Amino acid sequence: MKTRITGTGSYLPERIMTNRDIERLVETTESWIVERTGIRERRIADEDEAASDLAVHAARRALEMARVDAKDLDLIIVATATPDMFFPSTACIVQDRIGARRAAAFDLSAACSGFLFALSVADQYIRNGVYRNVLIIGSEVMSRIIDWTDRNTCVLFGDGAGAAVLQRTKGEHGVLSTHLHSDGRLWNLIQVPGGGSRIPPSSSMLTERKPFIKMKGNETFKVAVRTLEEAVHETLKAAHVQPSDLSLLIPHQANFRIIKAVAERLGLPMEKVMINVERYGNTSAASIPIALDEAVRQGRVKDGDLLLFEAFGAGLTWASALVRW
Ligand code: UT7
Repeated sequence: MKTRITGTGSYLPERIMTNRDIERLVETTESWIVERTGIRERRIADEDEAASDLAVHAARRALEMARVDAKDLDLIIVATATPDMFFPSTACIVQDRIGARRAAAFDLSAACSGFLFALSVADQYIRNGVYRNVLIIGSEVMSRIIDWTDRNTCVLFGDGAGAAVLQRTKGEHGVLSTHLHSDGRLWNLIQVPGGGSRIPPSSSMLTERKPFIKMKGNETFKVAVRTLEEAVHETLKAAHVQPSDLSLLIPHQANFRIIKAVAERLGLPMEKVMINVERYGNTSAASIPIALDEAVRQGRVKDGDLLLFEAFGAGLTWASALVRW
């Protein structure tokens, strides 16, 4: 038994924030942002839109493509670093909104690697025969945890959601393998220090900028390239395939330079790499399912194609997956 992705969907908020808009907020330039990151613009959610709202739009589109009724879902996993609230989980709110009455629902925390962690968890349940229909979603409203006075981070992130319906299948197609990694020694490279039980809400919290992303960007960059290279080689080796066998690499969209460095180390031409970081920035757990959905809807993914996914993020966490479409 295997897990097959039978539907994908995504949702991007309408409001576009360009690099020029950010020039008005912090000491930065359009050219610095484009050269160092490849990002030209990102989407920003409306004030009344939370992670579950974005997730529901993406989920409905994925269910429609898969022709699966929400009532038949067994499990919903929402990967997010920006849940509507601490509890209930965003997954439970999504479950209610789409009417998935039978499904168990929970959130998963692995930052930007969250979607691939969710894919791996769901794959275990499906292959073991426990569940038949699973919905996994990456949904983020990063704009709420961005420090709009910090030029090191505010240029990088954006809002969005992506979803995939996973179903049990037999035969060649489906998830071939998933590979998850974590190194908690590097927990302090990317963090949101305030608002949890370590630094609970207080009147000084906002002035000290505690509930916002802090990142050691340059160190993260170097670890990302190294770990992603290891992960993709591990994945190819496990399936006994060569980089030249790949139809498309769908990487986490954090920084064009990271994507390019990993593709070069694989010897993969850039035409075989899905890239949309220039339009959406880093949407954390949403970035891979958004890129996958765009690739599917643009006809870039065909029956039998071999797809490689890779992601890294806070934790640190990193992950990869190989899928026969
Ligand atoms: O999904 C996981 C999330 N994490 C990431 O994706 C982070 C990965 N890291 C990166 O993408 C890159 O490290 C950044 C894009 C964040 C930064 O690029 P970099 O080439 O590593 O630059 P840097 O941090 O070494 O900074 C170079 C200079 C610094 O100035 P000095 O100290 O050399 O004078 C920064 O202060 O660039 C400065 N700088 C900026 N200048 C203009 C930092 N941010 C900006 C900015 N505009 N927005």
